[in-house]
Amino acid sequence: MSRPVTLITGAAGGIGSALAHTLAGTHDLILAGRTPAPLHALAAEVGGRVLPLDLGQPASLAGAVAGVGRVTNLVHNAGMVQLGAVAEQETAVWQATLNVNLAGPAELTRLLLPALRAERGTVVFVNSTAGLAASAGWASYAASKFGLRALADALRAEEAPDGLRVSTVYPSRTATPMQQSVRAQEGAAYDPANYIAPPSVAATIAFILNAPRDATFTDVTVRPGHVT
Ligand SMILES: NC(=O)c1ccc[n+]([C@@H]2O[C@H](COP(=O)([O-])OP(=O)(O)OC[C@H]3O[C@@H](n4cnc5c(N)ncnc54)[C@H](OP(=O)(O)O)[C@@H]3O)[C@@H](O)[C@H]2O)c1
Repeated sequence: MSRPVTLITGAAGGIGSALAHTLAGTHDLILAGRTPAPLHALAAEVGGRVLPLDLGQPASLAGAVAGVGRVTNLVHNAGMVQLGAVAEQETAVWQATLNVNLAGPAELTRLLLPALRAERGTVVFVNSTAGLAASAGWASYAASKFGLRALADALRAEEAPDGLRVSTVYPSRTATPMQQSVRAQEGAAYDPANYIAPPSVAATIAFILNAPRDATFTDVTVRPGHVT
């Protein structure tokens, strides 16, 4: 049997690169993202193809994925966050956040659905606990992630008859460059030891992708454990 082909967006980021390392050797990887150099460096380590794309420009995605070929699994992992109170956050940030975190993933899903249906594959949306409850200062990010859950739920209902599985993973704070940026925006110190390690979130996603076909893990929340 041929190996699954798994496309990861934001593949060079903290969770994305951990997932690429976790799947290397058992999945054929398509490492998608905005900045080519780190994607090529990752490909040199884990194998796979590089696919440059910008989720902030949803209309450009059709050109980016044209001719991509077989895709068994699609992991929507790329994301951005810019904190700000509703009273202060400018419309450009709202638009960028909703494009990268929601409209881009919706368009990428639409474009890849024929390939995913043909493989009876799995789509995983990397959401956030901010997609379950919105805190002060998190409106644009939380709204994009609440919307991402709606996208996942509707997609699951629509595509189940074609055998496509759809899962949402909700990580809590994880030790990545995004969390480092969040802590800087909060004016607080960043100590990676205080957060979930990216390989733990990657292991969750890999389990969902590799799980037996008679089960769908619709919603999985990942919160910090206690290391003794
Ligand atoms: N870290 C956390 O605490 C945490 C908690 C809950 C959920 N999450 C979610 O986990 C996912 C992965 O985040 P992470 O923590 O691993 O962050 P990260 O290290 O900052 O990685 C994010 C990745 O997304 C890519 N990306 C950003 N904008 C893009 C665009 N317009 N088009 C294509 N790719 C783009 C980035 O590429 P560039 O480097 O080129 O910008 C980067 O590779 C995100 O969806 C995030 O919301 C993270």
